[in-house]
Amino acid sequence: MQVKSFEEYKEAWRKSVEQPEQFWEEIAGNFQWRKKWDKVLEWNFKEPRVEWFKGAKLNITENCLDRHLEKNGDVPAIIWEPNDPTEDHRVLTYRQLHDKVCQFANVLKNNGAKKGDRICIYMPMVPELAIAVLACARIGAIHSVVFGGFSAQSIADRIKDAECNIVITADGSFRGTKEVPLKSVIDDALVQCPSIKRVIVLTRSHTPVSMIKGRDVWWEDEVKKVETQGNPECPVEEMDAEDMLFILYTSGSTGKPKGVVHTCGGYMVYTGYTFSNAFQYKPGEVYFCTADIGWITGHSYIVYGPLSQGATTLMFEGIPTWPNAGRFWDIVEKYKVNILYTAPTAIRSLMSFGDDVIAGKDLSSLTKLGSVGEPINEEAWHWFDEKIGHGNCPIVDTWWQTETGGFMISPIAGVTPTKPGYATLPLPGVQPILVDENGKEIEGNGVNGNLCIKFPWPGMLRTTYGDHERCRQTYFATYENLYFTGDGCLRDEDGYYRITGRVDDVLNVSGHRIGTAEVENAINMHSTVVESAVVGYPHDIKGQGVYAFVVSPGKHGDEEITRKDIIMTVSRIIGPIAKPDKIQFVSGLPKTRSGKIMRRILRKIAEGDTSNLGDTSTLLDPAVVDEIKAGAL
Ligand code: PRX
Repeated sequence: MQVKSFEEYKEAWRKSVEQPEQFWEEIAGNFQWRKKWDKVLEWNFKEPRVEWFKGAKLNITENCLDRHLEKNGDVPAIIWEPNDPTEDHRVLTYRQLHDKVCQFANVLKNNGAKKGDRICIYMPMVPELAIAVLACARIGAIHSVVFGGFSAQSIADRIKDAECNIVITADGSFRGTKEVPLKSVIDDALVQCPSIKRVIVLTRSHTPVSMIKGRDVWWEDEVKKVETQGNPECPVEEMDAEDMLFILYTSGSTGKPKGVVHTCGGYMVYTGYTFSNAFQYKPGEVYFCTADIGWITGHSYIVYGPLSQGATTLMFEGIPTWPNAGRFWDIVEKYKVNILYTAPTAIRSLMSFGDDVIAGKDLSSLTKLGSVGEPINEEAWHWFDEKIGHGNCPIVDTWWQTETGGFMISPIAGVTPTKPGYATLPLPGVQPILVDENGKEIEGNGVNGNLCIKFPWPGMLRTTYGDHERCRQTYFATYENLYFTGDGCLRDEDGYYRITGRVDDVLNVSGHRIGTAEVENAINMHSTVVESAVVGYPHDIKGQGVYAFVVSPGKHGDEEITRKDIIMTVSRIIGPIAKPDKIQFVSGLPKTRSGKIMRRILRKIAEGDTSNLGDTSTLLDPAVVDEIKAGAL
């Protein structure tokens, strides 16, 4: 599946465009199927309907676990580094992981789970999270993992939207010196969620929890029951290639997060292929992705991609700056990590601690580096290259999205010549195109446009859960016959792609997608707030920060207190990741006569660039702009 030279890459890309079905059929041949497909691809972006490997039968866990057992059962599948470096780490070989997944799959079955059920997972970064995910996939249940930093309200919204019947969680999780009471957050969420019949609780932090009779059970007790049943093997559920594998919620430009749906066959092929190819993974290498499994990066490139390729994947429970900012480098040294895949925010943050925290750390095991989630600035790219890679490690700057399932535009390590700040070229199988506002293709090089994809790839989303029309509207209706990414992009003189950022009302804060409308809805829930407008502004570490303009005539007394209250409200409603960095109280928002907020103006003010605010003649009350400008933070 790996191309070994730039010439081979170009040849593979050409073939993937000229004969896509043959191209993907060959790649799919590297996986284990219970029944082969009747047809490689059927598609129509109008509906949209995309079906890959139609008629094929498989189970992704057979590919991630069972097929490695005979030859590689003793190879480490997961290495786990705990939050506290003085606690013992854990290693699970492929055989051990297989056995634990079977065991927990039987726990799920004993608790009434069956194919097609939706199961919400809200857990710390411990091996049991990967086990829970794989156990769902083994029995054909659809997992919906919710990142451990989301609030009770966000969890409830997601559980209700997917009509989940089971939650898997833990008593609490550790993040640096903090303890997050996961079970208690779940309890708050479940007040609104009558569909949940069972909560399975892992012991992790020993935080006191309340267990509700008839609803809540302990993970460990349930596992014991399976052990007394003699630990039977759990045969895989035979899944159709187009059966749902999971739902993962992501923010868009409207207030409500959408449940992106991925299916079994195409997603497996796409994540396995892109992992193997872009990282040029070689057996025996230790691969460390610093993301959380609560995001797509963790789904595709901690769990499914690496495991389907028999790789050793390292999971880290903690945060990069605790006990000190040298933690990543300690981990690299301790496990002789070969491939490190992280985010520009982490790089910029660690950079800011200076070189002392790297001094004396043996990083010589590293051979390849990766970056994901947001545009990487040149300074961070060079620091990563020089200080971490010592100039010897290719950096793969992977551009992709929750919706794409896997890497789309990315260098292939050691094969594609890289350029700082550039995701470089499309991977084989990916056909990007740039269009103008009207959907007209912008041809040639040295051009900017909106990034679209004109042909399906196996890892793409199939729908948004429970609302196919929303999927059509969001991704396939802006430009006819194209998948619209929501990103702006430059194609330079060499035909290299550089992602310039979102062109819709979505922020990218520390590599996490946050919809401005979602944050506004949360702010507006505060009792003194009449309305608000949220925009992004450049932030040295986070990439983008959250800037909120708030109309709050009722705020009494201390502005500082109201500010704190609003921040608390956003934390409660969405989660701490969406907290505004800046809140400016204003008497009104710049609106057109038809009542539309002119965000362009607010963005400029937030960016500190007020020299030219563009045309303000359509404003209902131009004076409001002067007031906002004068009070800018
Ligand atoms: O704007 C792009 C940015 O992150 C968005 C996707 O966010 P999410 O679905 O949360 O997935 C993040 C992990 C894949 C994209 O629309 N983005 C992602 N990777 C890059 C990027 N921007 C620039 N360069 C990247 N390598």
